[in-house]
Amino acid sequence: MNIKLNHTIVYSKDKHAAADFFTGLFGVPRAKPFGPFLGVEVANEVTLDFMDTDDAEIQAQHYAFLVGEQEFEQIFGRIKARGLKYWADPGQTEEGRINRHDGGRGVYFEDPSGHLLEIITRPYGSGA
Ligand SMILES: [Fe+2]
Repeated sequence: MNIKLNHTIVYSKDKHAAADFFTGLFGVPRAKPFGPFLGVEVANEVTLDFMDTDDAEIQAQHYAFLVGEQEFEQIFGRIKARGLKYWADPGQTEEGRINRHDGGRGVYFEDPSGHLLEIITRPYGSGA
């Protein structure tokens, strides 16, 4: 199979704020402007294209990132340093906790537009 997700649009209240939030938190290179988008590329060549839109048009989406142990430490450290809320579960009931699914670590938090971001150190279902 030679099919890879290449890019997706992340509708944002303020694309600059959203892209800066993401690149600063994840420690990835700054966004590159392309047309109406601010593109941020992650390690598997997927680009997140942050784009401005009206608040009313934003439907919260879920974006999950598989990260290394060291990256988890760094990103989670920044989440705590910034005082962001975080949860162990996607229903956002277990505030201030992380999960240990699949023998790794995982945590959920929101971006400035309300999208639910997740970082995990093990892919879903890989632990058992
Ligand atoms: Fe998820």
